[in-house]
Amino acid sequence: MARTAIVLAAGRGTRMKSTLSKVLHPLCGRPMVQWTIEAAQAAGCEVCVVVGHQAESVRESLGDNIGHALQDPPRGTGDAVRCASGSVPHEGTVLVLSGDTPRVRPETLEQLLEQHGDALCSVLTMGITPQSAPESAYGRIVRDDQGQVSRIVEAANASDAELEISEVNSGIYAFNARWLFEDVLPQLQPHPPKDEYYLTDAVAAAAEAGGLQALLHDNADELEGINDRVQLSHAEAALRRHILEKWMLAGVTIRDPSSTYIDASVKLSMDVILEPGVVLKGSTQISEKVRVGPHCVLENTQVGPGSEIKAGSVCLNASVGPQCAVGPMARLREGTVLETGSKVGNFVEIKKTTLGAQAKASHLSYLGDSVIGPGANIGAGTITCNYDGHTKSKTHIGERAFIGSNTALVAPVSIGKNTIVGAGSVVTHDVPDGALAVARAPQKTLKEKAQTIHDKNARKAAKKP
Ligand code: UD1
Ligand code: CA
Repeated sequence: MARTAIVLAAGRGTRMKSTLSKVLHPLCGRPMVQWTIEAAQAAGCEVCVVVGHQAESVRESLGDNIGHALQDPPRGTGDAVRCASGSVPHEGTVLVLSGDTPRVRPETLEQLLEQHGDALCSVLTMGITPQSAPESAYGRIVRDDQGQVSRIVEAANASDAELEISEVNSGIYAFNARWLFEDVLPQLQPHPPKDEYYLTDAVAAAAEAGGLQALLHDNADELEGINDRVQLSHAEAALRRHILEKWMLAGVTIRDPSSTYIDASVKLSMDVILEPGVVLKGSTQISEKVRVGPHCVLENTQVGPGSEIKAGSVCLNASVGPQCAVGPMARLREGTVLETGSKVGNFVEIKKTTLGAQAKASHLSYLGDSVIGPGANIGAGTITCNYDGHTKSKTHIGERAFIGSNTALVAPVSIGKNTIVGAGSVVTHDVPDGALAVARAPQKTLKEKAQTIHDKNARKAAKKP
């Protein structure tokens, strides 16, 4: 039997007060709508997303493997499902989900599909606290004298008495596809105040035909819809906690979960230790026995086993090999590759540079567009001058080269292996293998000159009134 899910993501989301489409607001690094899509896929559904408002960006965020239909302009949830009519099979069961309900779990959808059976429509409902009922924006589940659901009334159209109802529509449904597309959707009528076509009218139609099930779900938090940024923060907190718990149960120590942020796409290994304030984003992957110190930010960065990223380091699009040490307060930028056992110390910035195995840059340096051989030692304050105002040029440093402190390497320049560059040099010419290069003004030493100056200053001071 075909299993299809339509995810509605064409609405404007005006209550977010944002230039970004509501369903693209990220939750733990993943667009809101993606969470719902993945839940539906995990429940075994082929997914079709209805796009409309900012259609192009929403479609782009979906990637290539997910079907979509266009609703232009957005004229309500009923109209949105109607727009998917040509893109999904009119047989079997079709799930309809809102792109703004990201916390729904695959198990809940599987259960809904199971319970749906031969019904025309099964709607998941939930209870909200009676005190909050009058203000809540959800559609209210209206039951008749026998307790049977007869229809759903939207908050905007509800009477004061209906607003007191605390059983509400989650916006998640299973439908008999043929009945929905062929008998119901073509008949929908627009509603005031915005002349929208409501999908909730399909629920009333099923009730009338005796084919409705209202299934009360006991976890209202899971089905909370996101309409504004307060609800966005609720969802983020819950999803974040879930990710943290998943990793803790997989063997990661998280010293302070309340200050640790891990994107859904990050991968961690056993015995990783995360100190307080760590932020891990994007495609970051951390291998076994890595310690990430307090207040580090790693984005799209790979870290090999046994390495340590010390406090306050920031790494973006970098690759750190095994047994490396980084920081405290190091900055690794795009294209940084640290090979096995290399070391980057405090206030070192690295970009598009490979630091060979066991090489060290321990203090206060900028290394850009460089290839640095194994075992090289980059002294404190070394700068690769890679940019002349027009073009970027490369610096090569051979294996076991020793670059003295406060050296400026003016690129393009090549320093051979086993070389020594004297401290304070400004190197503008290549240095061959095994050579010593010193490029600084020779030292002048004038004997007893200091004493003469001190005496002169003392005489001046004595004359002042
Ligand atoms: C909807 C339900 C309400 C339910 C609530 C649950 C209707 C009429 N109301 O209200 O009963 O309690 O969800 O969260 O269905 N969308 C489109 N095209 C449109 C309009 C909306 O694709 O023309 C999409 C939105 O992008 C969103 C979803 O449908 O992902 C729900 O739309 P929204 O405006 O948030 O509906 P609610 O007012 O929350
Ligand atoms: Ca909503």
